[in-house]
Amino acid sequence: MSSTEDNNLPKELEVKEYEFSGHPLKITMFKGAFLGVAAYVWGPGLALCRYFEDEKINFTGKKLLELGSGTGIVGILAVLLGGNVTMTDRPYVLKQIEYNVSANIPVRYRHRLIIRALAWGDDQESFAADYDIILGSDIVYCPMQFPSLLQTLLHLCKDNTIIYLSSDVKYREGSAQFHDELVLELFNSELIHTTGSNCIYKMTKKVVGDEH
Ligand SMILES: C[S@@+](CC[C@H](N)C(=O)[O-])C[C@H]1O[C@@H](n2cnc3c(N)ncnc32)[C@H](O)[C@@H]1O
Repeated sequence: MSSTEDNNLPKELEVKEYEFSGHPLKITMFKGAFLGVAAYVWGPGLALCRYFEDEKINFTGKKLLELGSGTGIVGILAVLLGGNVTMTDRPYVLKQIEYNVSANIPVRYRHRLIIRALAWGDDQESFAADYDIILGSDIVYCPMQFPSLLQTLLHLCKDNTIIYLSSDVKYREGSAQFHDELVLELFNSELIHTTGSNCIYKMTKKVVGDEH
């Protein structure tokens, strides 16, 4: 842990270092800033980053939106892998995302990045439904929020949008039921990768005529 002299930053910061797809990442967690779960790097986020690395994913030319970015590790990697990325979270988390973006994304790539507030169930209408890919890591953990999360996902998807959700299905309340039951009314869903209790699902919106 380290403290800082900068009055604009929380007093308690923790820095962790990672490397994915040849990109070193230095992620600062704003502990002591009352960000709750947003102030941590979670296993499902790391699992999704590792999946992008293993699959040699290149997002060049793709328009992505990330829900619940938290520290920003997944969205930052998506920018470094070539994507045009909108990173979102609740308003009070955006400062932490901006800080990590500044520390990890070279200025010459920043035109491919937007950081915006998006509270599920409330703000999605102000976003166009024209994303190629939606990302979400460890955002399935609070059953009370599942309806608003589904509403948001549904709004953001065009017919061929691909959603990658990475979830801890063992230790997150309701997560298994969300993926195995709730999403299936509205989305086609395929489990594409498992590491420990972290599962990565690839989803698309069900359209009229879908037989799945
Ligand atoms: C467990 S953290 C995961 C953070 C990051 N994606 C990761 O994998 O490390 C859940 C994230 O979802 C965000 N979140 C929770 N409820 C939300 C809501 N109703 N609207 C928008 N974001 C929300 C939190 O602020 C937090 O950043």
